Amino acid sequence: MYASDLSPFKWDPQLETGYDKIDNQHRQLFKAVRNIMDASTSGKGDKVVLDTLEFLTGYALKHFEDEEQLQIDYEYPDYLNHRAIHEDFKAAVTELVKKVNHEGPNEVIIDEVCSIIRAWLVNHIKGDDFRLATFVKACDAQAMNEINEM
Ligand code: FEO
Repeated sequence: MYASDLSPFKWDPQLETGYDKIDNQHRQLFKAVRNIMDASTSGKGDKVVLDTLEFLTGYALKHFEDEEQLQIDYEYPDYLNHRAIHEDFKAAVTELVKKVNHEGPNEVIIDEVCSIIRAWLVNHIKGDDFRLATFVKACDAQAMNEINEM
């Protein structure tokens, strides 16, 4: 098992969008990926690995729902595209979980699955989620200015 501070799955502060709720959930997603890797490499057994994988997929669904609700609340112009990207990821993860269940959660597959999920998260956060957070923060700042001008 690697030391957690050397883990490639460690949270990278450069991924912080500056919008707390989104950032907190992203941190939890990274933690969940780390937990899967730790469960796998420390020989905790298949059930623990599968349970942590299930937790990650459930948490990802919750995160996407919350983020999509935020986009609806703020009338985010790129909502449909962002939601479609989430849907694609959900479908990809469903296939990966099927593969894990079919082949068994051995270290090679778990490492592959976690690497794919991490790469997707980093790419999505740096692009789509940063754009979303920038939009939401700008809306909040504008609303605050309007209150201050009253
Ligand atoms: Fe943080 Fe769009 O997922």
